[in-house]
Amino acid sequence: MSYTHDANLCLEPFLGEGGLKQEIFEEQLESCRQSLVRLREDKESGRLPFLSTPENRDDLAVCQTVASSYRANCSDVIVLGTGGSSLGGRTLYGLATSAFGPINGGPHLHFIDNIDPHSFEILLKKLDISKTGLIVVSKSGSTAETVAQFMALLPAFQKAYGPEKLAERITVITEPRPNPLRKLARDLGLECLDQNPLIGGRFCILTIVGLLPAMIAGLDVAALRSGAAKVVEQAFQTEDMSEIPAAVGASIATGLLRQRGIRQTVIMPYEDRLADLGLWYNQLWAESLGKEGKGTTPIRALGTVDQHSQLQLYLDGPQDKMFTVIYHDAKGQGLPVDTVLPKSEDSLSYLRGRTLGDLLTISAEATTQTLAKNGRPVRKFLLEKIDEETLGALTMHFMLETVISADLLGVNPYDQPAVEQGKMLARRLLKDL
Ligand code: PA5
Repeated sequence: MSYTHDANLCLEPFLGEGGLKQEIFEEQLESCRQSLVRLREDKESGRLPFLSTPENRDDLAVCQTVASSYRANCSDVIVLGTGGSSLGGRTLYGLATSAFGPINGGPHLHFIDNIDPHSFEILLKKLDISKTGLIVVSKSGSTAETVAQFMALLPAFQKAYGPEKLAERITVITEPRPNPLRKLARDLGLECLDQNPLIGGRFCILTIVGLLPAMIAGLDVAALRSGAAKVVEQAFQTEDMSEIPAAVGASIATGLLRQRGIRQTVIMPYEDRLADLGLWYNQLWAESLGKEGKGTTPIRALGTVDQHSQLQLYLDGPQDKMFTVIYHDAKGQGLPVDTVLPKSEDSLSYLRGRTLGDLLTISAEATTQTLAKNGRPVRKFLLEKIDEETLGALTMHFMLETVISADLLGVNPYDQPAVEQGKMLARRLLKDL
């Protein structure tokens, strides 16, 4: 597999006081066996297609045609959508972009998930709409924010392209059932790509919802899927639960909650390209598990930046968190950092002969060890490299870990009933405005 998962420093025999007792860990692990049997049955019966999507390639051809057209004709592509309809694509795009724009050429992607009128004003001033594409993603096709975003931008696109060319620049992704967005798209003659109705937003990162933006960004989406498929295969073919990283992770998270009341979980990649993975993970973990008074709160951090912002709290604040540090061995990589270091300079001598990659990797290792020394449960993902295969594997790991955790906690990971209350109230208030 493209990563190793080492969770020993969450367990009492390795961490000491603060760790999960071995017997509780083993109990939790044993319960995972049943969860995995049920998940495998659900995969085989087609009830949980997010687990079989990684094996599929049939849906990619149509996406590739759409993506190539955007790549060839657009300087910018706006992706409208919220929650799971935005965060997956944005996370994958992280591999192909940087603070200085896209890495592989191709258009600049903008994931617009809010409805702040100020941002829309600026967007219309800054982007040349005649060179911009638009992708509208809403599984239900009725999310007020997404439909409103679309209708707010539509006049600018109609003006730039006219009714005939509109379909060349706007694509809608929604489920194949009657819904307001689908109807709007049909009335405007736009292409609608079908989203699988059995895959909820936070589990759809490896469906066309995440992969269309990834293709536009020039990523190898088959490698994303094959990385994920290997994680599913390993989980379903391994008898020993302690050899299945997602089962180990779920056992530790739920065990620490049960035994030590650990109610927060910090995810801390040490890679700019994985910075948005934490955003996606936050939604996946929070919305899937936060039910009936259960669940733990996900917190997103980035190494090394948050060492200088959050780490004091993590090391010396309340002992209510577990930590996930994610990095790859970048030692010897990147620019040298000692080019102008005078021979006589002693206070910076630790940088002599070192690179940026040395500093990054050593920082991840030092943070892991320091957390453990302070009795904080910490696990690490050591990635082989940062590429599509690895990111596909990581995202599937977290989806599996989440659904197994839900089973151990006794909640349904696939719904979000509490969110519906706010949505209904907003609709009523808007009507009365
Ligand atoms: O994970 C989920 O199900 C949610 O976050 C949805 O993705 C989000 O509410 C957007 O829903 P829709 O895609 O129907 O517009």
